[in-house]
Amino acid sequence: MAKRIQFSAHGGPEVLEYRDYTPANPGPHEVRVRNHAIGLNFIDIYFRRGLYKPASLPSGLGTEGAGEVEAVGSEVSSVRVGDRVAYATGPLGACSELHVLPAANLVRLPSGISFEQAAAVMLKGLTAQYLLRQTYDVKAGETILFYAAAGGVGSIACQWARALGARLIGVVSSEAKAERALQLGASACINRRREDIGQRVLELTDGNKCAVVYDSVGQATWETSLDCLQARGLLVSFGNSSGAVTGVNLGILAQKGSLYVTRPTLASYADTHAHLQAMADELFAMISSGRINVDISQRYALKDTAQAQIALAAGETVGSTVLLP
Ligand SMILES: NC(=O)c1ccc[n+]([C@@H]2O[C@H](COP(=O)([O-])OP(=O)(O)OC[C@H]3O[C@@H](n4cnc5c(N)ncnc54)[C@H](OP(=O)(O)O)[C@@H]3O)[C@@H](O)[C@H]2O)c1
Repeated sequence: MAKRIQFSAHGGPEVLEYRDYTPANPGPHEVRVRNHAIGLNFIDIYFRRGLYKPASLPSGLGTEGAGEVEAVGSEVSSVRVGDRVAYATGPLGACSELHVLPAANLVRLPSGISFEQAAAVMLKGLTAQYLLRQTYDVKAGETILFYAAAGGVGSIACQWARALGARLIGVVSSEAKAERALQLGASACINRRREDIGQRVLELTDGNKCAVVYDSVGQATWETSLDCLQARGLLVSFGNSSGAVTGVNLGILAQKGSLYVTRPTLASYADTHAHLQAMADELFAMISSGRINVDISQRYALKDTAQAQIALAAGETVGSTVLLP
């Protein structure tokens, strides 16, 4: 028996229940992890609201966590009982004391990285890794635009861009968040509540605009983001914080300068254990060398996941939030 967060219908934070449940025994290629810390992510809100659909209802929630291996399936040789592990993809259900998932979704934690740090950085840090190093290989001297620069993914992206020698212009909603993003490595920030994003990008780049725009806001900013790109620039639309982008007229990409657009997900980059491990190795190296500091700005008890989601959805959080079982 264990405690977990589950939901039986889509809706507001009130649909989240803190319930007893009995985790399944691990299948041949699966592992049962006793979570010590769980990461809170915007994707959890999409699943709760129904923008993304769980396999079935009632469903567990969450995809990011870190803990100790408690049981392994008969075919598992990559990890052993007692190993310290972390994960960022896999079946929903991380918001729980115990989580059963495929061994291929786990990485072993280096000794210098705590469970809380890992839960705070696995999903968000691996996302920053693929966005800045794979979707587009950001080079020193290039200018990129990054939305929600003081948030979970954004705080890591600011630091990673600084380490790469790139110029990251952050979009944020307050002066406090701007200050924070600048401290983390953003070269400049645009306050989306007070400034015109397109106009400020023109000014900050002497009319040259950006090679890449990383837009996690979605519906509200899609067209503005296209206007911030150089000819043949790349829009990386990687989130739906304001709602999903739908009904796109491809002709707009021609009108605005033969632009490229991609809508990536972490699962299709960390699609094999080898890819996942390589991405995690790079992330952990950035942390152990001090180039990325893992900032846990909010901690909640697991039973208070609904309150944590309310704060995340309202833009009240900065950096990472962890849930503690
Ligand atoms: N595709 C992928 O692989 C992938 C992986 C991880 C995360 N993501 C996406 O990346 C984004 C960031 O995720 P996160 O978990 O790190 O969250 P977060 O950035 O900590 O929080 C979301 C931030 O988005 C900004 N925002 C702008 N418009 C908003 C709106 N209408 N409603 C709510 N927030 C709004 C807010 O920052 P300001 O107040 O500063 O504007 C808010 O703090 C999310 O869209 C998430 O879905 C995508």
